[in-house]
Amino acid sequence: MGYFVFPNHYPTLMSAPALIKKYNVPAPRYTSYPALPHWNNDLSAESWENHFKRSYQEFGESDGISLYIHLPYCESLCTYCGCNKRITKNHRVEIPYISAVMKEWNMYLALLDKKPKLSGIHLGGGTPTFFSPAALGILLNHIDKTSIRAESFEFSFEGHPNNTSKEHLHTLAQFGFSRVSYGIQDFDLQVQQAIHRIQPFEKVKEVTEQSRQLGYDSINFDLIYGLPHQTLATLYTTFQKVMELLPERIAFYSYAHLPTAFPAQKSFEAYLPDENEKRKLYEQGKIWLEEMGYEEIGMDHFALPGDPLLVAKHQKTLHRNFMGYTMSPSKILVGLGCSAISDIHYAYGQNEKSVELYKEKIIAGSFPIIKGHVQSPGNLEIKQLIMSLICNHRVSWKGLRPLPGELLNQLMAFEKEDLITIEEEGLAITAAGKPFVRNICAAFDPYMQSNKKAQPLFSKAI
Ligand SMILES: C[S@@+](CC[C@H](N)C(=O)[O-])C[C@H]1O[C@@H](n2cnc3c(N)ncnc32)[C@H](O)[C@@H]1O
Ligand code: SF4
Repeated sequence: MGYFVFPNHYPTLMSAPALIKKYNVPAPRYTSYPALPHWNNDLSAESWENHFKRSYQEFGESDGISLYIHLPYCESLCTYCGCNKRITKNHRVEIPYISAVMKEWNMYLALLDKKPKLSGIHLGGGTPTFFSPAALGILLNHIDKTSIRAESFEFSFEGHPNNTSKEHLHTLAQFGFSRVSYGIQDFDLQVQQAIHRIQPFEKVKEVTEQSRQLGYDSINFDLIYGLPHQTLATLYTTFQKVMELLPERIAFYSYAHLPTAFPAQKSFEAYLPDENEKRKLYEQGKIWLEEMGYEEIGMDHFALPGDPLLVAKHQKTLHRNFMGYTMSPSKILVGLGCSAISDIHYAYGQNEKSVELYKEKIIAGSFPIIKGHVQSPGNLEIKQLIMSLICNHRVSWKGLRPLPGELLNQLMAFEKEDLITIEEEGLAITAAGKPFVRNICAAFDPYMQSNKKAQPLFSKAI
């Protein structure tokens, strides 16, 4: 573990302000390609079933299924939050919701002639730890009885530090969970008040220590830069507290400001740092993380040496899906629960967002998918290029169709700005180009190029 010091001067931006201004435009985060707003919605329930069966036949036996389960409830609203959640203090909602998720899983099981192989479970939200350990136990027990665990499996969950109990940790550990991600965001009280999320350090410390005692060998903290009232001084204090606990992984997210979709974000708009201040928070934060011993995995993600995700990065075997970076090569990610997204290689699908409509569809016995996209061979080719850029910061187009002239011109412009180096039939993103990886990916994305003016659905790239 290293030491880090507060800079005695305001650091100079590594990225030129002119470049930040030019490229701080809406762009996808590329957890999928095409990005969700560009899906063609050409999917019928019947074709979803057929694509799932085909994918499982081709990849299921070797890679297994990775399950994402969306658990949407939270007791109180954090005003910065851009997730799909339902705020309530009524815990009677737990069992009916869990029953709907189990029925949805049964619908997938009915399409297979034997128990599927399971390579991963991720409980996300909302707040999975809103649910009692007993309710989570019912769900996990059902999944356990109806599937076969892959030899190497990864079970993880998102926990709110304020309501993750020892019983939660114990119950989940018994089902094989060994990874937990805690939402921290920031330890400064003024920032916490502005985002309506009071979260004492002592509570985070207690739950982190309990997780370690109960065998969780990978703890992640979510932190955000660009929040209201955040300055280098507040970030420094937050990082000092992070250093005391030294989680194996850190997600250092760029605050995504989308007040049209999430109106509560308007409450603190006047106190947000500007784009250059925000960039400085990231650049200085990254220096501090590196001084603490962390290494950057890719966009927004850091880990301590020896972490399997970092090893995968070095071995160039990193993957990316809707949950972010992953080591799982599984080509079948099934999302259960309201708003959950599935990527079954040949198609994408997103479930009904509202809890009520989701449950109605399940009760009626139909897949609750409301949006979808069937992948063309061209889509799959571009997906491979973009995922390589995001995971490895380089790409080769050897053996693929020649790149269109417009894209080559754009790449030459990036090279002039020192953001990339063009190689024979490929490119590498330079250190100066890494902050602009979303923009570089967008150049390969025909959906982004065909309608440059109307892209309000994405958060800004920097
Ligand atoms: C579902 S929450 C985590 C679990 C739990 N609900 C909690 O808050 O502790 C997922 C993560 O998304 C990130 N997040 C939510 N809204 C965001 C936003 N507007 N910009 C950037 N990150 C955001 C936060 O870091 C948060 O921890
Ligand atoms: S950040 Fe987490 S706890 Fe807060 S509203 Fe969003 S999902 Fe719920």
